[in-house]
Amino acid sequence: MAACTPPLAFITGASSGIGQALAWQCYQQGWSLALVARRGDAMAQWAAAQGLDAGRFAIYEADVGVVDSIVAAARLCMERQGLPDLVVANAGVSWGVDTSLREDLDAMQQVLAVNTLGVAATFHAFIAPMVARGSGHLTGIASVAGLRGLPGHGAYCASKAAAIAYCESLRGELRGSGVQVTTLLPGYVDTPLTRGNRYAMPFLLTPTEFAQRAWRVLESGRSYAIIPWQMAWVGRCMKILPNSWFDRLLVGRKRKHRHLDKN
Ligand SMILES: NC(=O)c1ccc[n+]([C@@H]2O[C@H](COP(=O)([O-])OP(=O)(O)OC[C@H]3O[C@@H](n4cnc5c(N)ncnc54)[C@H](OP(=O)(O)O)[C@@H]3O)[C@@H](O)[C@H]2O)c1
Repeated sequence: MAACTPPLAFITGASSGIGQALAWQCYQQGWSLALVARRGDAMAQWAAAQGLDAGRFAIYEADVGVVDSIVAAARLCMERQGLPDLVVANAGVSWGVDTSLREDLDAMQQVLAVNTLGVAATFHAFIAPMVARGSGHLTGIASVAGLRGLPGHGAYCASKAAAIAYCESLRGELRGSGVQVTTLLPGYVDTPLTRGNRYAMPFLLTPTEFAQRAWRVLESGRSYAIIPWQMAWVGRCMKILPNSWFDRLLVGRKRKHRHLDKN
């Protein structure tokens, strides 16, 4: 009898934080992995440290902010490992900006390229083959920060709001095709991305806690979830608060520090 092939997860941003934790969660569930990020050495070191079976993972160095780079990685994955069952567009950057400064417009463009267009570019090569197969799961990692604008965080909030809307559009397009689309909105997770934040981060999760909860959402077939549940309530309130109340709530809150500030 032929051995059963494990399902395959293609995960961007797999060299750190949430992406790494999601990869480990999938691996522990018996899945094979396509690990994607710019730092191949970091992914190789992690795979060795975790003792991953060489037959169950491959590493792809790609920049999701460069369309041809991530599309090439997706195509190579399909050649080498086959069509994934799950694609997680997780790679992202969180850069504070001050758009009154010219150089911060370049930073904002980069944030949008990675966090928004990067999600679409990650899914791109898989959409048609998944539709032809009649199955697949595309998951975009957005953020609670995509629900309202936060001071100093205009680039990030805009990029995540656009990612949420993009995933919703794609979900409508793929309805009935057998391909699912899920949008996950993390609250605060303790990773290198948040460690420099100079404000309180309520309901902070470890990456492992986040990955375990995300896994349950993916298994349940839900199309949208804010994690953790406490943040889901915060998110719901944020969405419906009138602007005047929301503005008052932000009084005294420290703004996200500029990415280009070295201090
Ligand atoms: N941590 C939180 O509290 C939080 C909250 C809400 C949403 N999120 C979202 O969760 C996702 C993961 O964040 P994290 O907290 O795990 O951050 P992280 O630890 O800094 O990891 C970010 C990952 O994205 C990859 N990446 C960044 N730019 C890339 C590019 N141009 N091309 C390819 N890969 C790139 C990085 O790999 P390389 O540097 O090796 O390329 C790294 O693996 C992000 O989309 C983030 O916005 C995080």
